[in-house]
Amino acid sequence: MKLRVVESYDEMSKLTAKEIVTRITTNHSFTLGLATGSTPEGVYKSLIEEHKRNGISFENVSTFNLDEYIGLDPIHKNSYHCFMQQKLFSYINIFKSNIHIPKGNTSNHQEECLHYESIIKASGGIALQILGIGKNGHIGFNEPGTDFSSRTHIVNLTESTRAANARFFSTPEEVPTQAITMGISSILDSKEIFLLVSGHQKAEALHKLLTTDCDNMFPASSLKNHSNVTIIADSDAATLL
Ligand code: GLP
Repeated sequence: MKLRVVESYDEMSKLTAKEIVTRITTNHSFTLGLATGSTPEGVYKSLIEEHKRNGISFENVSTFNLDEYIGLDPIHKNSYHCFMQQKLFSYINIFKSNIHIPKGNTSNHQEECLHYESIIKASGGIALQILGIGKNGHIGFNEPGTDFSSRTHIVNLTESTRAANARFFSTPEEVPTQAITMGISSILDSKEIFLLVSGHQKAEALHKLLTTDCDNMFPASSLKNHSNVTIIADSDAATLL
């Protein structure tokens, strides 16, 4: 794993956006894996700037999001479908048909998991996956204990993850108890991975990632099994290093 520590959240976001732009402008078509949460919001803002100011086109880009809450309709204000529309997709020229997010409101979740895996495969696989990290080391919604060989699956969210994400909901009780997420093995199939880590509240997780061996009680440590991972961290997240 390569580690790049930059001064600020802003720098982390701009650097990541530049790296994405380089890849989408030098490839005929590009498949990008996207994450939700607060961490990548700045990257999405910078990508919108790149589109508006510098005319960067997303017509050749397909996206696959990591996860979605179970039970939320795509138009629900807390769904990740809605998050992605509001933070990125509605401001850039990406084709709607090229946007993929697992559906959390189907009648057959198992079928949706298999379907999601098959469309990632049919696209030729993810060229670059953007990841954030949970305080407990989760990536996507792969909570501690998740098998490293897991593919897209349904998870029960831990209380700590529900509490961490409660800030987006009106009341903590509204946070769904389950989600559909790309599995660890699905994530590791990506050709390249950027793990973004920002803020003091992630300092411990980053320190743990860099100092412990692969351990399925700390899902992000699975990234040590991948040959092309870059951690981009801001100085607040790097305080314990
Ligand atoms: C959520 C998402 C993850 C994200 C993590 C960290 O649970 N499912 O993909 O990486 O939380 O979120 P944040 O960036 O808001 O700290």
